[in-house]
Amino acid sequence: MNGIERPPEKKIMVFKKKSEARTEHDKPSGSLWKIIVVDDDPQIHILTEEVLRDFTFEGRHLWLITGYSGQEARELLRKHEDAAVILLDVVMETNHAGLDVVKFIREELRNQNLRILLRTGQAGQFPEEKIFEEYDINNFLEKTDLTSRRLKTALKVALRAHRDIRELDLARQREVELRRAADAASQAKSNFLHMMSHELRTPLQGTKGPFEEFKSQFHLFVGMKRLQALIGSMHDENLKSQFTAALQETRDEVEEIASQGLKSVEHLLGLIEDVLDFARIEAGKLTLSITPHPVRQPIQDVLATLRPLADKKGLQMVVRLDEDFSVLADGKRFKQILFNVLGNAIKFTSAGSVTLSVVREERHASFCIADTGCGIPPDKLSLIFEAFEQIDNSATRQAGGTGLGLPITRELVRRQGGEIQVRSTPGQGAHFTFTLPLSLEG
Ligand SMILES: Nc1ncnc2c1ncn2[C@@H]1O[C@H](COP(=O)(O)OP(=O)(O)OP(=O)(O)O)[C@@H](O)[C@H]1O
Ligand SMILES: [Mg+2]
Repeated sequence: MNGIERPPEKKIMVFKKKSEARTEHDKPSGSLWKIIVVDDDPQIHILTEEVLRDFTFEGRHLWLITGYSGQEARELLRKHEDAAVILLDVVMETNHAGLDVVKFIREELRNQNLRILLRTGQAGQFPEEKIFEEYDINNFLEKTDLTSRRLKTALKVALRAHRDIRELDLARQREVELRRAADAASQAKSNFLHMMSHELRTPLQGTKGPFEEFKSQFHLFVGMKRLQALIGSMHDENLKSQFTAALQETRDEVEEIASQGLKSVEHLLGLIEDVLDFARIEAGKLTLSITPHPVRQPIQDVLATLRPLADKKGLQMVVRLDEDFSVLADGKRFKQILFNVLGNAIKFTSAGSVTLSVVREERHASFCIADTGCGIPPDKLSLIFEAFEQIDNSATRQAGGTGLGLPITRELVRRQGGEIQVRSTPGQGAHFTFTLPLSLEG
């Protein structure tokens, strides 16, 4: 609670004789500075109360809680953990009872916020400098100072320090809580994404089978075979060829519809895989299996999938790879990186070419993907690696996608010991380069 924000309380000063000092109903209500006063001399308590009668700090009065021995001080300290200051006598039941309480506060209670003001009548016996050195106290007063302004000033300084430490503590606590809440929210989001993508993936996988059957095995369906047999047994050649043509038309139509459906399902599955990967990365659960991989085969596999897209747009696909060699990578993820970067190059290029150049360097391999597409504005170059960031232009809007490809790619490259960079001249194309460590075996 911040004392400054509280309205000033009605003045409440509590001072009880020893026998009455600790009854629970004596506790004044409201926001007061809790001050523990420990001294074996009742006279000192009376004087302390006199001096501090009108004392306020930041509009708040004092609640003086009194004790008469080191033992009693310990009980009060346990009970009033939020006390701001203790005015502590040194010599009580033993010569060093107060000093033992200091150790108790700092070492046993581990209370660093409480400000400790030692008070002694035997100043010579306890050299100030030595006490400060050996004990974690905040001030050292002589009882002769008791009636003077020095006590008030010392108390003000102590309360100010206590307030500052407390505010700092509270700020730190708030920060920890905020971080914890943010972590929990992020974890919940990752779990949700993970769970949802799994739930979506299973039924979608299930729809793939029928589409595939319609696409490639429709002619093997029982009804189709029977129709073919019936047509085969027809004697009227004209009718026979009309039926055959109609059957072929049906087959073409079904296959076309099935392949459209299959494409949509595969697209959806790809998106779901990206969301799953993203959730795995966020949750720190992405695992890779890194082994030596010759580079030629994965490049060929990825090109086999992407070339039809490039052909459709009339783009030239060029691969520059002199000799095969191995990189240290996760085979599946290596292909995914190539697929994402090459896929983007094709997606964002409407005319010209996409070139992949593979260069073997001393310790790593560089994969450079250059296109002649729309390019990326300089101020967006770092943004495109952030999740869900897409450049708002017509090329992106036409191309679709979720904006997860590059963030996942960058994480995959980094996790495999490489780096990814981009440079671009808007209107002339983009140039992505990623590296992977060389395998010494390959
Ligand atoms: N070769 C490129 N040329 C021009 N812009 C690009 C290129 N590659 C990426 N970008 C820009 O960076 C953005 C982010 O790319 P990213 O691969 O992360 O997402 P996406 O391709 O839009 O969607 P997703 O990959 O999830 O299908 C793209 O939307 C596009 O604006
Ligand atoms: Mg992409």
